[in-house]
Amino acid sequence: MANCIYHKGKEKYPNLFLPIRIGNIRLKNRIIGAPTSPSMITAEGHFTPEMIAYLEEKAIGGVSVVTYGEAIVHSATGKSHNKQLQLDSFGVKQGMAQAARSIHNAGAYANIQLSHGGKYGGLASVGGDHNCCDVAYGPSHEMTPMGEVQEMPKELIMEIVESYKTGAKLCKDCGFDMVQVHAAHGWIFSQFLSPVLNSRTDEFGGSLENRARFLLMVLDAVREGVGPKFPIEIRLSGDDLTDIGLGLEDCIRVAQMVDDKVDLFNISCGNHEDPDVFCRTHPSAFYPRGVNVYLAAEIKKHVKTPVACVGSLNDPAQMEEIIAEGQADIVEIGRALLADPYLPKKALEGNADDITPCLRCYECFGETAKSETVKCTVNPTMGQQLQEKYPRRTPERKKKVLIAGGGPAGMQAAITAAARGHEVILAEKSEKLGGNLHPAGAPYFKKDIIDFCNVLINRVEKAGVKVVLNTEVTEDYIKEVSPDALFVAVGSNELRPPIKGIDLPHVIMAVDAELHPEKLGKKVAIMGGGLVGSEAAVSFNHEGKKCTIIEMKGVIAEEVNSFYRGGLMVEVEKSADIYVNTKVKEIVPEGVLCERNGEEFIIAADSVVCALGFRAPYDKVDALCSLVDEYYIIGDCKNVGQIYHAINSAYYAAQLI
Ligand SMILES: Cc1cc2nc3c(=O)[nH]c(=O)nc-3n(C[C@H](O)[C@H](O)[C@H](O)COP(=O)(O)O)c2cc1C
Ligand code: SF4
Repeated sequence: MANCIYHKGKEKYPNLFLPIRIGNIRLKNRIIGAPTSPSMITAEGHFTPEMIAYLEEKAIGGVSVVTYGEAIVHSATGKSHNKQLQLDSFGVKQGMAQAARSIHNAGAYANIQLSHGGKYGGLASVGGDHNCCDVAYGPSHEMTPMGEVQEMPKELIMEIVESYKTGAKLCKDCGFDMVQVHAAHGWIFSQFLSPVLNSRTDEFGGSLENRARFLLMVLDAVREGVGPKFPIEIRLSGDDLTDIGLGLEDCIRVAQMVDDKVDLFNISCGNHEDPDVFCRTHPSAFYPRGVNVYLAAEIKKHVKTPVACVGSLNDPAQMEEIIAEGQADIVEIGRALLADPYLPKKALEGNADDITPCLRCYECFGETAKSETVKCTVNPTMGQQLQEKYPRRTPERKKKVLIAGGGPAGMQAAITAAARGHEVILAEKSEKLGGNLHPAGAPYFKKDIIDFCNVLINRVEKAGVKVVLNTEVTEDYIKEVSPDALFVAVGSNELRPPIKGIDLPHVIMAVDAELHPEKLGKKVAIMGGGLVGSEAAVSFNHEGKKCTIIEMKGVIAEEVNSFYRGGLMVEVEKSADIYVNTKVKEIVPEGVLCERNGEEFIIAADSVVCALGFRAPYDKVDALCSLVDEYYIIGDCKNVGQIYHAINSAYYAAQLI
């Protein structure tokens, strides 16, 4: 018998790890890295070394194919975001060839998505802050709030068709093994396919066949560019979910039209540019995982070409089920690979319980729009792949490390310090590890956070960390343990301002309320409309409470990235009455006395939740730090922040010892 390595995952997920042929390539498993295009691109539209390292790590993690997203074929008209790979930019090839080689060398195939933003080339798109091209060309003339759209002349259509051919050939020449034509998410082909946006009277408008003509011509041109058998994937919508787009029936018809021209379908949905459906295209935590798989399953019934599904898939068991049941032939995963690029490898090796789950918090999108880099809340090395290649300084000696506080920062520091060979004691004053992850994960739509907490707890255990519960780190305790280094990770305290009536029995702090919603009456007034207060309203309303949010500022959930906020606001507005620009004057037995525009009124409530923020306990931190020579302050007690700050500060501080 051949010498073969036995992988537990193949037994557990036999269909997921079954090879499949797509065109002239043989995929080693059914997991493809979905197209992603964070902004690590030069101003000329070339890959940066950071981007290459980002793509390479996905290949190392075990996907069969790594897909780079949105390479623009015609940058004079089609650049939809500030920084994108431009296939027609002089000098673009070197980085592309290097990326393809890095992906190959790490054991995966390299795929690249060919795209054109259509009218968004000349209009500012979501996450972009300027119009990238001089003129916005769409299928038809249109006046939009962002500017005027010109009908795309026929000569330009033909030029763009040609640019797909040239672009596809260039990708092949640079070593890519596959191309994906992007025909979804609101970009050029969604616009031409739309019966509303496309009102042309020539051969590119009118019937669905005519509206699909441009796409079909492009697929033929791409085939000409890459030659026979070279795999062409198409990203198609299963349902645009908007009143300007196609529904499932029409999407099936389009799929049938292109069935002979492609080697793989990837069925997505929604529209990148419509905030109401962005959270379905990139499903939010308000939807069950795999919410869009049914669309791939429907399309699959009507085509002969293999079909991939996509959308918030994170669990190999669910992926296995999808393939075993014939809902799709392949799963594509986007954010799950940012949260944990090693997901496929961990599944294959039987370590699925160590997969870091994506929290669907959209910080990755937020960061790429904000700073032209990428980061992930739960993965401190995301976006740091290049820096991570430098060898780390090995510890001079094994140290005794005491970590005060078993929240996310404390746990992450313990895991990292133990991995560096230190003796680690993790002391937590409560009866369990997790800290504020428990209240944060209490709402019904935040289960991902509890899963993440459990992954960390599991890692702490496996790392051989000595966990001491029900133990507050005090001066005496530090003297007793006598550590070489101390990590202060004591978290933050909820703000309880001296508002008149704050000590009334129906006032409850937000953390307590999240953990014990049974303590709340029927009518709940939430003081503070930040992220905590807003999410609490959705959560309590789900428990049957009537909620009111009282916020002093003009907007609620202001601090959260706009991508998450879009999905959240839909839920908050359904769940609560919202009073902005409203001051709490006093808490009274029948509710909260408020003032807005000089007018006083009472918001009736049985329970008043105090969600007015958190403060780091600086005095306590200073006192602990004064007792040792080597200390590190991490997480909320350094600066009150989000889970990202806790994990990131802990991971990198622990690398220093
Ligand atoms: C940072 C980031 C960048 C993305 N860029 C692209 C892109 O360039 N083209 C595209 O079609 N989809 C893009 N997507 C969407 C993903 O391909 C995927 O369809 C979507 O995130 C839903 O899958 P998921 O829930 O597994 O992340 C991007 C997603 C992320 C997280
Ligand atoms: S930043 Fe949030 S949404 Fe993005 S991959 Fe990480 S956990 Fe998922």
